[in-house]
Amino acid sequence: MIIFAELKLIRFLKPQMTNKMKEFKRNLITCALPYANGPVHIGHLAGVYIPADIYVRYLRLKKEDVVWVCGSDEHGVPITLKAKKEGVSPQDIVDKYHNIIKKAFSDFGISFDIYSRTSSKTHYETASEFFKTLYDKGDFIEKTTEQLYDADANQFLADRYITGTCPHCGNENAYGDQCEKCGTSLSALDLINPKSAITGNIPVKKETKHWYLPLNEYSGFFEKWILEEHKEWKTNVYGQCKSWIKDIGLEARAVTRDLNWGVPVPIEGVKDKVLYVWFDAPIGYISATKELRNDWEKYWKDKDTRMIHFIGKDNIVFHCIIFPAMLKAEGSYILPDNVPANEFLNLEGEKISTSNNWAVWLHEYLEEFPDKQDVLRYVLTANAPETKDNDFTWKDFQTRNNNELVAVLGNFVNRALVLTHKYFNGIVPSVKNLSQDDNDVLNKIDAIKSDVESSLENFRFREALSRAMNLARLGNKYLADTEPWKIFKTDKERVEEILFVSLQITANLAGLIEPFLPFTANKLIQFLNIDKFDWELIGSKDILPAGHKINKSSLLFEKIEDKTIEEQINKLLATKAANSKENFKAKPQKDNISFDDFTKMDIRLGTIIEAEKVAKTKKLLKLKIDTGIDQRTVVSGIAEYYKPEDVIGKQVSVLVNLSPRKIKGIESQGMILMALDSNNELSFIQPDKNFDNGSVIG
Ligand code: MF3
Ligand code: ZN
Repeated sequence: MIIFAELKLIRFLKPQMTNKMKEFKRNLITCALPYANGPVHIGHLAGVYIPADIYVRYLRLKKEDVVWVCGSDEHGVPITLKAKKEGVSPQDIVDKYHNIIKKAFSDFGISFDIYSRTSSKTHYETASEFFKTLYDKGDFIEKTTEQLYDADANQFLADRYITGTCPHCGNENAYGDQCEKCGTSLSALDLINPKSAITGNIPVKKETKHWYLPLNEYSGFFEKWILEEHKEWKTNVYGQCKSWIKDIGLEARAVTRDLNWGVPVPIEGVKDKVLYVWFDAPIGYISATKELRNDWEKYWKDKDTRMIHFIGKDNIVFHCIIFPAMLKAEGSYILPDNVPANEFLNLEGEKISTSNNWAVWLHEYLEEFPDKQDVLRYVLTANAPETKDNDFTWKDFQTRNNNELVAVLGNFVNRALVLTHKYFNGIVPSVKNLSQDDNDVLNKIDAIKSDVESSLENFRFREALSRAMNLARLGNKYLADTEPWKIFKTDKERVEEILFVSLQITANLAGLIEPFLPFTANKLIQFLNIDKFDWELIGSKDILPAGHKINKSSLLFEKIEDKTIEEQINKLLATKAANSKENFKAKPQKDNISFDDFTKMDIRLGTIIEAEKVAKTKKLLKLKIDTGIDQRTVVSGIAEYYKPEDVIGKQVSVLVNLSPRKIKGIESQGMILMALDSNNELSFIQPDKNFDNGSVIG
């Protein structure tokens, strides 16, 4: 192994911290605590956990002081609803999913410093204390109001226990605390046509007492702190904040609930009430830090700490308004410096949905693609929903793997390493004078590194990854231009230079891609027989000294075949079919008609005797039908469902007295009756025995 400390002496040191970073002594990174009511999927990874992991790995490589906390959100209605659905206790639910989620994150290299849970003892204490402090200071308003109540379920309906139409955007499936479509934070009483999620009942109203955080009193503070002092926040985040502060207006929010699952309200004499999940969950960040470090207060209370919340867009109001208001009210805590929220990732054009099983679950992905964590990390980063909702498709997954990871990164590294073994027994060749061209190539490494840095500092992870890949592209092009395999016999010295340069690029790649593709970086480090090195060292032109021996290597990535992708797509199609069967609702009945109206229709059995596609159309077949009365032409829109040869000989039902119509220049003399089912499949209406053509249907 090489001691890199020595190399540092000859390295050109360049200041790398932006001004922004210099103001702070340490970093506290948080990631939204996922609800422990189901496994995690690609949407979670792409929106929150991968960007945060990239950022934290980068900070660690830079030797910054950083603490990264996360854990399971184990309270709230999402948990109790799921427990009800599965017929088990909420505790069973959170125990099960906490472990599944924790493992999935760790399997994907999501390198939290701690993954805790809000059922922990420390959390109960921390959340209770926090509430108590605000309560004792008189920061809450105590109000008795009428709330929605489900008399059958014997329960008040808040949050996800109630659904209805969002008064802002008309989404019919808004929850009692939030509309996920437009992001607005709501109160159950705001919903139009509210309905109990437990029984489907229309709720009644009943009086109850709760404690409210008077957000309205903080308007001036938010205007200054966010709208004036944090103009650098992402436009999607800043825009949402602005609309709450300026347009919608901040209102007092209840921070307690009539439930029995959660942190009990720590006020003497109060029973059967718990803290609102969005009050206790963000305090989970504090509890997790406490569990991790004795000096946790430094990270939460010292102004030299830079706190960053990584979240999805549905969490913006809670992290930019409600939690900061809580922290501000408490008084001794710092506020976030940035909240780089992402938009949503869709799957094959449709919104990811846990309840519809429309998702790629991380644990399932790993069963089907073991050891391909980095492929998913790569695709989800390259296609991250940073500024708008984005789509994950299996086809894109395949293309990016085959054309980028295999053809660019894998191909370059493999050629550099294999040729070094082939020509120089795995020893880094020594070189005397590198040409100007070679030096130009080596100089580009540092430039690429700076590009990557500036993207990372601005939370532009897709751009950062694409810039990091430029280093692999540089290497690939260099080998394609110099073609060492063609000149080894005639000019060994030149090949020494070429491989020296290629190996420096390879070693720099091992550092530069680590935040994005940690598994691949580890492999590279093994192949190169070096230690993991600091960010500072990236950019140096002699990171691997002449004479250093590298290890045997294997391929970093392998091609993904069409068949593999088809299997995944078929799996989704099966899900879709199952969903539409399950959700199928027959259309409402049409208005009544008279018996006479009905008898006007002359419907007969007929047999298709000829069939051909109508030229220049996708949907139309021209059929000749023996109706028993005559043989006639009918044009029918079934070409996407049936091939001409498959329909010949079929007995079908035909409306024979429909006035003839010209369709694409062909006169159609009747209509074939078809049934359409929930899966969009068509079926002929056929007799169950072979009947005479011309038999009357009626
Ligand atoms: N569980 C919430 C969600 O999945 C996120 C909670 S983030 C925290 O939307 F700040 F409250 F922890
Ligand atoms: Zn809405």
